[in-house]
Amino acid sequence: MNLPALHQLALNESPYPPLPSVRKAMRRAVAQAHRYPQFYPDDLTERVAAWCQVSPDHVVIGSGSVGVALQLLQSVAGPGDTVAYAWRTFDAYPLLADMVGAGADPVPLTADGSQDLNALLAALDHRTRVVVLCNPHNPTGTLVTADALSAFLRQVPPHVVVLLDEAYVEFARDAELPNALTLLGDHPNLLVLRTFSKAYGLAALRIGYGLGTPDLVARIRRQQLPFGINAVATAAVEASLRATGELRRRVDTVIAERDRLHDRLLQHGWHIRPGHANSVWLAAPDPVDDAAAALTAARIHARHYPGEGLRLTIGSREANDAVLAALAHVTASGAYHRRPVRGRSRQMS
Ligand SMILES: Cc1ncc(COP(=O)(O)O)c(C=O)c1O
Repeated sequence: MNLPALHQLALNESPYPPLPSVRKAMRRAVAQAHRYPQFYPDDLTERVAAWCQVSPDHVVIGSGSVGVALQLLQSVAGPGDTVAYAWRTFDAYPLLADMVGAGADPVPLTADGSQDLNALLAALDHRTRVVVLCNPHNPTGTLVTADALSAFLRQVPPHVVVLLDEAYVEFARDAELPNALTLLGDHPNLLVLRTFSKAYGLAALRIGYGLGTPDLVARIRRQQLPFGINAVATAAVEASLRATGELRRRVDTVIAERDRLHDRLLQHGWHIRPGHANSVWLAAPDPVDDAAAALTAARIHARHYPGEGLRLTIGSREANDAVLAALAHVTASGAYHRRPVRGRSRQMS
């Protein structure tokens, strides 16, 4: 029998349970669970719009950001159409394309794990309805800079919707990070996708949102399931939006841990690039399969793409230390240890 994982680092979840104030709001909502939620989530839409400083007709709420992505595909794509995305990416995109009967057009990442914007542009044709960009990218954590995004948007034909998936945007602090909302006015074919699952730590509650121009948002809302947004989840999101200072401090801690893990692994010879999400990406030809085996032996569940890479979600400090201890064993085993580490123990911490 397989023992359960000691550390669950495979799904890019938050290591933190909901804040006490958020749990309190959820308990209150549970006491009213015999009542339906709003037919459509109008109050939450207003709340999120105010938070994003846009008008409510720019916002569509869905069952996780993946739910909003599905609504978009349902409203603009079908059999005979295609959806383009960099590959690898978030596993849901090929599934969503298939659900609406559209073809998938995966475009390989560049050698350094970035989305190949020129190749994506070259892949767009009269059948393409949506092109997905993930920023920061899952699983590699790379960033599309503001300049690169603007140039990309200028070249995408108007019949193609750009789905800019910003599920991890709160973890990106780079000066080159685009401010996507400022681009909506010039690009009516842009939908920015965000979620309460990651930085806000509410993955189980399934609330995400899209931001776009009112015409596009109205089309996507037509696919909205009546009574589809759960009242307990709504209460949790509203309470989270009242606690953004506390939540930001949690995100700061995750970022500090990500950078610590990155630096330690770099010191031990892994060829990793700075990541901008809540994860660290190890890539072949570094010994990612050995690393995966070592993590499994330590009962750490990470996301392993055999022969290709390993995505480690940033967990608690204890979980991250357990990762470093498990991987110290791998990199210390001879050929893989490329650079000597001076003045440090080989045991990572
Ligand atoms: C890039 C990306 N987008 C969206 C999601 C899904 O988020 P949600 O929980 O909001 O559906 C994930 C989840 O891992 C993701 O990695």
